[in-house]
Amino acid sequence: MSDYYKDKVAAVTGAASGIGLGLVEKLLAEGAAAVFMGDINQDSLSKESERLDQQYPGRVFTALTDVTVLEQVEALIRSAKEHAGHLDFVFNNAGMGMTVPTEQVTFDIWRFILDLNLLGVIYGTYTAIPIMREQGFGHIVNTGSAGGLLPVAYQALYAATKSAIITMTECLQYELETEGLTFSVFNPANVITGIFGDLAPPPDAISVEEAMDYIFAELARGSLIIVLPQTARDMYRLYRENRDEFDKLARHMASERRENYRTKGTYY
Ligand SMILES: NC(=O)c1ccc[n+]([C@@H]2O[C@H](COP(=O)([O-])OP(=O)(O)OC[C@H]3O[C@@H](n4cnc5c(N)ncnc54)[C@H](O)[C@@H]3O)[C@@H](O)[C@H]2O)c1
Repeated sequence: MSDYYKDKVAAVTGAASGIGLGLVEKLLAEGAAAVFMGDINQDSLSKESERLDQQYPGRVFTALTDVTVLEQVEALIRSAKEHAGHLDFVFNNAGMGMTVPTEQVTFDIWRFILDLNLLGVIYGTYTAIPIMREQGFGHIVNTGSAGGLLPVAYQALYAATKSAIITMTECLQYELETEGLTFSVFNPANVITGIFGDLAPPPDAISVEEAMDYIFAELARGSLIIVLPQTARDMYRLYRENRDEFDKLARHMASERRENYRTKGTYY
């Protein structure tokens, strides 16, 4: 992975658990000079940052950050920049999953998920861009989802947020790469985190550590769209290259989910 992360300064949102915490730990393990952890959950933020500070003294910082509040995202990112005068990475990661039958959807739920999953990423991206343009470098990494690349039944709200993040990230890469900026969006399928709530993670789910190894290698290569694990990459290829087969699979998944909702009240 060479020295891509060594002595770098990063800000990470949704950093107190799951994938965000995995990003923080991997950055520190790869030699980052300072990682600024933002999360809405003060207890987890304190607990995890204190644990990491024991292992990496003086390299972990925290800011209570609700990504739906622009000023709080700005404060997190600006304090990272002010720390050593450079801002190398911003990981706009905070977000949540949402799989829900249409009859249960309200416009308040739409607003909630757009605020958290989409505007939260937009706030971080558009706060970091002028800072990185001025310094002439920087890597903005957004957390998308396989659900933003592949249309799946019962995920219209979630897909609306994640597909927007993916295409926004691509547009910005083509617009700003000549100024030294790099954009990436990584798109996991199932990674074992709290996102599954009370449900057991699906059988094909991978660990956060396994996900980080793949993501960090791809980021160091400057990959724009990152998809993981292999099963998701296979599905994505099917979607692009054999739409008839993908349609069959998507309809099969829809009927399975319909039946699971009817009999168990959940989608799997
Ligand atoms: N785990 C997966 O399988 C999976 C798959 C695809 C995409 N993702 C994406 O990965 C990202 C992280 O999810 P995760 O699986 O680690 O879940 P997680 O629930 O373990 O972590 C989410 C973190 O975000 C924080 N958070 C929630 N609302 C926030 C807010 N308003 N402001 C700041 N922080 C907030 C939570 O406190 C938590 O620490 C999300 O964007 C999610 O959509 C996860």
